[in-house]
Amino acid sequence: METFVIEGGRRLTGRVRVNGSKNAALPLAATVLLTDEEVTLRGVPELADLKNMYRLLSELGCDRLSEPPTGEPGVIKFRADPKGNSHARYDIVKTMRASICTLGPMLARRGYARVSMPGGCSIGDRPVDLHVRGMQALGAEITLDGGDIIAKAPAGGLRGSTMFLGGAFGSTVLGTANVMSAATLAKGVTIIESAACEPEIVDLANMLNAMGARVRGAGSPRVIIEGVKELSGTDYTVMPDRIEAGTFVLAAAITNGDVIVENCPIDSLLCFIDKLSAMGIHVTPVPSAPGVPAGVDPLRACVRVTCDRTLKPVEVTTQPHPGFPTDLQAQLMATLTLADGNSVITERIFPERFLHVAELSRMGAKLYRQGPTVIISGVKKLIGAPVMASDLRASACLVMAGLAAEGTTIIHRVYHLDRGYERMEDRLKCLGASIQRIDDKDLPKSSQLSEG
Ligand code: EPU
Repeated sequence: METFVIEGGRRLTGRVRVNGSKNAALPLAATVLLTDEEVTLRGVPELADLKNMYRLLSELGCDRLSEPPTGEPGVIKFRADPKGNSHARYDIVKTMRASICTLGPMLARRGYARVSMPGGCSIGDRPVDLHVRGMQALGAEITLDGGDIIAKAPAGGLRGSTMFLGGAFGSTVLGTANVMSAATLAKGVTIIESAACEPEIVDLANMLNAMGARVRGAGSPRVIIEGVKELSGTDYTVMPDRIEAGTFVLAAAITNGDVIVENCPIDSLLCFIDKLSAMGIHVTPVPSAPGVPAGVDPLRACVRVTCDRTLKPVEVTTQPHPGFPTDLQAQLMATLTLADGNSVITERIFPERFLHVAELSRMGAKLYRQGPTVIISGVKKLIGAPVMASDLRASACLVMAGLAAEGTTIIHRVYHLDRGYERMEDRLKCLGASIQRIDDKDLPKSSQLSEG
C-alpha cells in the first residue's frame, strides 16, 4: 500500500490549477445511458472513482470510444447500447457509492434497472431511500432482491409528477441528480421540491439541456423538468472542482503561503470564502493573464490566497449548498488547529464524519468532540507523526496538517486520497512542499503498517 512522507514547515508559493470536478463528472458520465448517441465529456480528472464509473458503464453496455493512451487527456467518449446489461453489481457498487447514479438513467431509457444497494461507508450510514422514493413518484415499481434495488417503469414509461425530495438531513445531491435525469424522459412535467442546490446539479442540468432536455430551476430548491421523447448526444466540459479548489486554498493558508489558484469556481464557494475571510485568509480574484480583468468568469476565476500571520478562530456549521460544504470540513479543521483561540465545527450533513479527529490529535491538535460538534482549541504548532487516512477528505486534512507540522508525517493508505485528487503530491511539490509517495514496505520496519 502507498504512503505519503511529508517534511512539514515549508511555505507553499506559486500557481496551481484546479481540475474538473469529481462530483460533477460522476453523474454526468451516467447520462450516457439516457441516449443512443455519442457523448463526449471534457476536463474529466483522472481519478480512481471515475475509473470505477467507466468500468461500471462498460458493464452496462456503454462502449468507451476514446481510450488512453491514444485519446486526448481528460476527454471521455461513450456510446450506450440501449439493450445492454442493466445490472450494476455489488462488486463495483461497493467500491463507489456514486454507482447509484446509473439507476435513474437506466430506468428511464430501458424501463428496467437493477442496482446493488450501496452499504454504509466510513463517513456514515448513507441511505438511498430518497432516490427510491423519487423513482416511485415517477411511477416505478421498486422491489429489493439479494441486496439489489430492482426498478421497473410502468407500461408506457415513467410519468412526471410533483414530489418532495427532502429527508431528515435536508436535500440529497445524488438523489436529485438521479430523479432529474430520469424525469427528462418521463411523460409530462416533474417538479422536484427540496431539490439539492449544489453547483454540480446545475452542471448536470446544463448538460441534460445540451442533450435536448427541458430542465429549469436547477440551483434552486424547486427544479422543473418537462419530459421529452428522446435525448441526443453532446460534447460537454465538466465544471471545475470546488472542493479541490477549497483544499488548495486551505493548504496555502495552513502553511502561511502565497498561492495563485487557477480555474477556481469562486461563485460556488462564497460561504467558504466568507468564513476564511473571518479567519484572516484572503482569497482575491486576480487577472488570469496579462490584459484579462480579474474575476471575469466567476466559475473559472484565478484567485490569490494570502493570510494574516495569526489566524482567528471561527464557528462553522456544515450545510447543504449554499452553506459551508461538508466536503471541506476536515480540511478546515486542520487549519483551525493552528488558529489563535477556540473554534467550533458542527457537522449537519454527516454527523459521524470525524475520523480525522483522532489522527489530528496524534499530531498535537487539541480537539474535543461531543456528538456532531468538535471544539478546536488552537495550538502553537502541530508535530509530525504516523497517521492513517480513513476517507477521502480526512486524507486531504492529514496532508494539510503534515504540510504545516514540525518534522515528518507519514500518512498510510493514501489510496483514499487518490479517489478524489489527481496527483496531489506532484501538484503540492510544484508549490514547494516536501512530499514523497512511497510503498509502505520501503519504509523503515518501525513505520510500516502491521495488518489487523
Ligand atoms: N440522505 C438520506 N437519504 C437518501 C440520500 C441521502 O437520508 O436517500 C442523507 C444522507 O445520509 C446525508 C444527506 O442526506 O445525511 C446528504 O447526502 P447526499 O445524498 O446529498 O450525499 P450524496 O449525494 O450521496 C454527495 C457527494 C458527497 C458529499 C455529499 C453532500 C458525490 C459523488 N458525492 O453525496 O461527496 O459529501 O453529496 O454534499 O457527489 C466527497 O466528495 O468526499 C463526498 C463524500
